[in-house]
Amino acid sequence: MKFHRMLTAAAASFTGALAIALLGATPNPAQAQAWPTKAIVLVIPFAAGGPTDVMGRTLSVALTKNLGQSVIVENKVGAGGTIAAAYVAKAAPDGYTFFLHHNGMASSTALYRKLAFNPLTDFEYVSQVADVPMTLLARKDFPAATFQEMIAYVKANKEKINLANAGLGAVSHLCGMLFQQALGVDLQTIPFQGTAPAMNALLGSQVDLMCDQTTQTIPHIKAGSVRFYGVTTKQRIKALPDAPTLSEQGLKDFEMVVWHGIYAPKGTPGDITAKMNTALRAALKDPEVLRRFAELGAEVVPEAKQTPAGLQTWLKSEIDRLGPLIRAAGKFAD
Ligand code: MLT
Repeated sequence: MKFHRMLTAAAASFTGALAIALLGATPNPAQAQAWPTKAIVLVIPFAAGGPTDVMGRTLSVALTKNLGQSVIVENKVGAGGTIAAAYVAKAAPDGYTFFLHHNGMASSTALYRKLAFNPLTDFEYVSQVADVPMTLLARKDFPAATFQEMIAYVKANKEKINLANAGLGAVSHLCGMLFQQALGVDLQTIPFQGTAPAMNALLGSQVDLMCDQTTQTIPHIKAGSVRFYGVTTKQRIKALPDAPTLSEQGLKDFEMVVWHGIYAPKGTPGDITAKMNTALRAALKDPEVLRRFAELGAEVVPEAKQTPAGLQTWLKSEIDRLGPLIRAAGKFAD
């Protein structure tokens, strides 16, 4: 009996040693099977505490649960999200770097003459995530209480009014650009590294106006700490049912919805992006994620868009749609 146990142990340790030797010698298909064996980084292209960060951190909690490994948010800020995109494009495609970004992935191709990444060739696609409306705000002491007063005041004082945003490529920039186009004004814009610091400047009355996502603005709107003129969607939204749209108040057809996607560096193995997709789909059904999203006005995309192809096709169509719009506005960075 004792001898038998010794033999079994010897056989087991021999098999183990053989397995270790083989693993060391072969370039590891088993690695993808075991993935994830360490923490995963989710890169966020804007400042902590802002809309993209809030979405990323909400998802990271559910993804950590679903993957059995920590998903850590890392904010890589600057240049309207393009610094983070360039960073992810060059990151190791080993399954431990993912990227959450929005419309900026498409608009930056038209806004920047030189870009250190190509959204269509430098990434693997995981899934679309959620759509978020935007809101038009002013500092609390801005001298215009209603939407109509605001329009009249901006037109009459265009040379002294400024507009905060999160840099060229940010949705706050894009929304502000559409707003200026609609009014036929050219306001001074003040870029920040995200709309979290821009919101601080608005709350401190250091800037006048800002477009921003409901994922950050709803608490401030409800607290009455900013002036709020309306939502940028075609229809009114559930999270702010009494708030009028900009379009219904006179900015005809004004529409801006922020879409989000998750990417990985090009070359990340397909079975890893597929596992991340499964974990993400489960996260998008997680009651805590849904509760938080509903509270902040974010709406999970339909299941057909929760696929790599869904994101890739949408990104391409947005590049085609936004290019002419941005080039017409003539706002470029070098
Ligand atoms: C944007 O304006 O693109 C975002 O709101 C930036 C952010 O998440 O801070």
